Amino acid sequence: MIETRDLTKMYGDLYALNRLTLKLERGDVYGFIGPNGAGKTTTMRILATLLNPTWGEATVCGYSIYNNAQEIRRLMGYMPDFFGVYDDMKVTEYLEFFAAAYRIQGPERRRKVDQVLDLVDLGYKRDALVTSLSRGMTQRLGLARVLLHEPQVLLLDEPASGLDPRARIEMRGLLKELRNMGKTILVSSHILPELADICNKIGIIERGKLEFDGDVQTAIRKVRQHTVYLVTVGEGKNAAARELLEAHLDILKVEAREEEECLRVTLSDSVHDGSFIPELLLQNGLRLKMFKEEEIDLEDVFMGITKGITN
Ligand SMILES: Nc1ncnc2c1ncn2[C@@H]1O[C@H](COP(=O)(O)OP(=O)(O)O)[C@@H](O)[C@H]1O
Ligand SMILES: [Mg+2]
Repeated sequence: MIETRDLTKMYGDLYALNRLTLKLERGDVYGFIGPNGAGKTTTMRILATLLNPTWGEATVCGYSIYNNAQEIRRLMGYMPDFFGVYDDMKVTEYLEFFAAAYRIQGPERRRKVDQVLDLVDLGYKRDALVTSLSRGMTQRLGLARVLLHEPQVLLLDEPASGLDPRARIEMRGLLKELRNMGKTILVSSHILPELADICNKIGIIERGKLEFDGDVQTAIRKVRQHTVYLVTVGEGKNAAARELLEAHLDILKVEAREEEECLRVTLSDSVHDGSFIPELLLQNGLRLKMFKEEEIDLEDVFMGITKGITN
């Protein structure tokens, strides 16, 4: 649905985008993650046919950004990172204005406006002035606006930035709903955890270069090849458990975490399943109080990939 090859944008001798190659299949929700200045907005603007690349190829639904801008605009909804709303306009007037721009006419226009308002949960604000809306509501209104013409593909540039935690959760819910509707979505953020659970693929971009392209699990594995478990046994049994675990071939190392009375068990290379651990301990009369895989801080994954510290 979206494909780019060696997409490059230069400003003077700065590579805002450096040979970006991306592919989104129908129904993909692709998290485009990178720090400020990485090239996310540049990519979106090129795909939205608002900016010409210096070189490289890009197609949306098979249409080239060079020759078929009209078709692309009809099939895609682009929500920029900042968009103006107009003073003295009510929510419905604002949406009707854009519906008219998409040539949605007559009773169909009213129906469409109601439908998108319903989708983003802003029906109760239909008569409010757009300037009176909170940031979260304004973002939802922006999303409603790009949904009016029922695009198949959505480009959402940092839709959750600047939102408070509640509005962030609402925005995530909304993205899930759009995903369930089968839309193909390219959504950017400078925060990985914000997108990890709603995207089936992520790309990590820094200084115009795509440093990673794949699923979240693979990203995690790239930064931390070893699987780590946290184990707590009964009081005074730590030393015995440690000895037992250290002797096991599938375990690389065991570290004690004194303060928490907990053992941090790192599995050997290419071993990812630690379910043998409880059994091993029980067979040797060591009861488990706690056993779980150590949670991975997605922020660490992001930092690891962008700083190049990938093992
Ligand atoms: N019109 C422009 N003129 C010069 N440099 C630009 C222009 N637009 C963007 N850039 C530069 O291109 C790089 C990528 O910017 P951008 O795509 O906006 O990043 P992001 O959206 O990831 O924060 C940045 O270094 C930015 O300063
Ligand atoms: Mg940006």
